Amino acid sequence: MTDWEKRPHFHLLVCRRKTCTRDPCESDMNHDHSLTSSSSPFSFFENCPGDGHLLPAGHIHVWRAIVDVPLTRLQVYQATLSPDEQERAQRFKGSQHRRRFTAARGILRHILARYLRQSPRDIHFESGPFGKPLLQDPAGPSLHFNLSHSRQWAVYAVSRDLEVGIDLEEDRDSLDYAGLAERICSPEEFTVFQTLSQTEQRAAFFRCWTRKEAFVKALGHGFSFPLQNVTVSFTPDDPPRILNPRLNVSGEGSPPEDWSLFNLPLGEGFWGALAVAGRPSLVRGWAYRLEE
Ligand SMILES: CC(C)(COP(=O)(O)OP(=O)(O)OC[C@H]1O[C@@H](n2cnc3c(N)ncnc32)[C@H](O)[C@@H]1OP(=O)(O)O)[C@@H](O)C(=O)NCCC(=O)NCCS
Repeated sequence: MTDWEKRPHFHLLVCRRKTCTRDPCESDMNHDHSLTSSSSPFSFFENCPGDGHLLPAGHIHVWRAIVDVPLTRLQVYQATLSPDEQERAQRFKGSQHRRRFTAARGILRHILARYLRQSPRDIHFESGPFGKPLLQDPAGPSLHFNLSHSRQWAVYAVSRDLEVGIDLEEDRDSLDYAGLAERICSPEEFTVFQTLSQTEQRAAFFRCWTRKEAFVKALGHGFSFPLQNVTVSFTPDDPPRILNPRLNVSGEGSPPEDWSLFNLPLGEGFWGALAVAGRPSLVRGWAYRLEE
């Protein structure tokens, strides 16, 4: 059983730097102060309350789910997928990938359905210019969302008004993280990376990678956006921050204050980050349960 499975609920923190007090329940959670310059009070949520489908403007909800689900549940999810999604599922060569994709999309539909108050199968998606799934809504997107999956896990971010990007990565021993860092880091980042010890470099790489990927997913560009064009914090003492979000190759971009970054406390073996285009007043996180 993994660290995540042992934990009944997913915890996410929002803290005010000046007033943050660590919660004892959170001591094993790879804590970084989540909100770097917000005026939000410290908040900590364990259970999804009955009103968990209420999503006021300025709030972000994050869900994590296990996508290896029993067959009966998988059939429920499969029945909610569009013909396109079912066809895409069929294109996966391995049955495990097919099942995980089906569950991840089915769970996405069930999560969004809570907020939209409609049936999961009645949700229609379209794709942004670089493939980001969006809600098909002639009146403009009624919800912003994004998802990431790795192995048996998926994470989802949902917001009423702020664009979001989320990334989840498995920590892999075999990864040449020092070599990859050279390719994904901006010059400023790589200078800092080289000053770190070998042990620190590994964690720094995964922080850097997930924060950048969450950012490019919030932008909707994915990897078509050069990762070296954004500079993020990644040393253990530095809270998650976007330091320089250059949005084009000539270095122009929005100011860093327009963005927020959060660590996802996912437990051992996984790294995760959430990027928000704006300053959310609250970020809450829950485990998605089969019966929800
Ligand atoms: C998005 C991307 C960064 C995800 O990389 P990854 O680490 O393999 O996968 P993750 O699990 O973190 O995320 C995958 C999810 O991101 C979402 N996604 C896809 N494209 C996205 C984009 N451009 N921006 C944000 N999210 C995107 C999807 O929901 C996808 O899951 P699903 O299709 O199974 O539902 C990468 O696939 C990418 O760069 N895609 C865009 C490529 C591109 O330029 N396409 C142009 C033609 S469409």
